Amino acid sequence: MKIDVLLGLQWGDEGKGKVVDVLTSGYDIIARFQGGPNAGHSLSFGDTKHVLHSIPSGVFHDGVTNVIGNGVVLDPIVFKKEIEALEKIGINPYERIKISTKTHLILPTHRMLDAASEAAKGKQKIGSTLRGIGPAYMDKTGRNGLRVGDIGLSTFQSKYQQLRKKHTDLLRMYAIDSPTIEEDGWWESIEFLKKFDWIDSAYFLQQHQDKKILAEGAQGTLLDIEFGSYPFVTSSHTVSSGACTGLGVPPTSINKVFGITKAYCTRVGSGPFPTELLDKTGEALQKAGNEFGATTGRPRRCGWLDLVALKYALMINGVSELIVTKLDVLSGFDTIKIATAYKIDGKVSEEFPYSIDQEIEPIYEEFAGWKEDISKVQRYEDLPEAARAYISFITKHTQVPVSIISTGPDRNQVIHVNQELTPIN
Ligand code: GDP
Ligand code: IMO
Ligand code: MG
Repeated sequence: MKIDVLLGLQWGDEGKGKVVDVLTSGYDIIARFQGGPNAGHSLSFGDTKHVLHSIPSGVFHDGVTNVIGNGVVLDPIVFKKEIEALEKIGINPYERIKISTKTHLILPTHRMLDAASEAAKGKQKIGSTLRGIGPAYMDKTGRNGLRVGDIGLSTFQSKYQQLRKKHTDLLRMYAIDSPTIEEDGWWESIEFLKKFDWIDSAYFLQQHQDKKILAEGAQGTLLDIEFGSYPFVTSSHTVSSGACTGLGVPPTSINKVFGITKAYCTRVGSGPFPTELLDKTGEALQKAGNEFGATTGRPRRCGWLDLVALKYALMINGVSELIVTKLDVLSGFDTIKIATAYKIDGKVSEEFPYSIDQEIEPIYEEFAGWKEDISKVQRYEDLPEAARAYISFITKHTQVPVSIISTGPDRNQVIHVNQELTPIN
């Protein structure tokens, strides 16, 4: 069995949805391995712009199976809405989507706990998407969670009530005395899940090992629970090894690892961000990149590309091919910067430190910008020389080849790079 993995190398929103959609023509199965409705993966083609939260990004392609893996946390209410939105635009999702029986469920009370925990943190809040992600993964690792497969059991009602009670007790600890629980649509959406094939993703993928499989990540490496900017992270394993535990596939099955980075950096929610630009340039990036969250609509913080963080992410994930998105957004800047090292307490280092929640002065390399609109460029050779110099610097500095450059939200706005043109040496 050979599985390729695609994941984000920054703080999420690198353009994973778009790139999975571009790559799907080469795959039979797209399998999401972690995260939940905190994700917002945008896909654009023709006049359609669609945002997916829990559904894998291969769903718009005929004949492709989309697997929701055991590492995902699924909110049945959000899932039902997503399915209905797909049906409205003429997609029949029932044949295309398979759900792992081991996928954990997000309960309405998980969402309430998420909000209560954030409110209690005050200024230290994570800036969670409030989709119940943290509490759902806490119940999973605390061995209290409910899984999709439980729905079929006669004990499901009572297990649900037991967990719900635990949550209302916890809410009381947060001084929420008699919580009104927003359960609208819960039981209906639980019934709705029965319309789909439930699988054991480990067996399913093993049985389809002759097929071409792509594992789709959510969030990004710097939001990983182990390796991200803890505690300002999400609660799952967003890195390539997460594909093994989130789908039930062995490490020896992992083939290519596609790592996606924006040509600059963004972050939504709280937490440290060494190359953040709190000035006019940051505002210009936000405007040009239309940097507003696909799930919450919050403005995304913007800054220059951070090669210290990027190289760390490439190392953790074992990335074999780098994909650079949103290069078009940099058109029109007089100069562009890339951070190549951090200065901390007077010491310069290229290593990503234990914590970035401290005084860090990024050391920048400056590049000439370009004025041309590159959103229709289809060949690497046709990019302005300054844009090629920028990509070439990234390749040489990271020692990882760039295989795709994205120049706009549409699935056609893509440059497949001949690797002879971007040598790593
Ligand atoms: P994801 O979470 O990684 O799938 O990324 P999001 O969909 O949350 O955010 C990426 C945003 O950038 C979406 O609005 C995409 O439509 C858009 N996008 C993706 N690639 C490009 C690109 O190359 N250029 C521009 N201008 N927009 C892009
Ligand atoms: P995609 O898949 C960007 C951020 C939140 C918050 C932190 C924890 O679209 O790239 P959580 O709701 O998981 O408890 O929030 O992580 N975050 C994301 N940021 N893209 C995402 O997903 C994100 N999912 C979570 O903003 O800072
Ligand atoms: Mg997103």
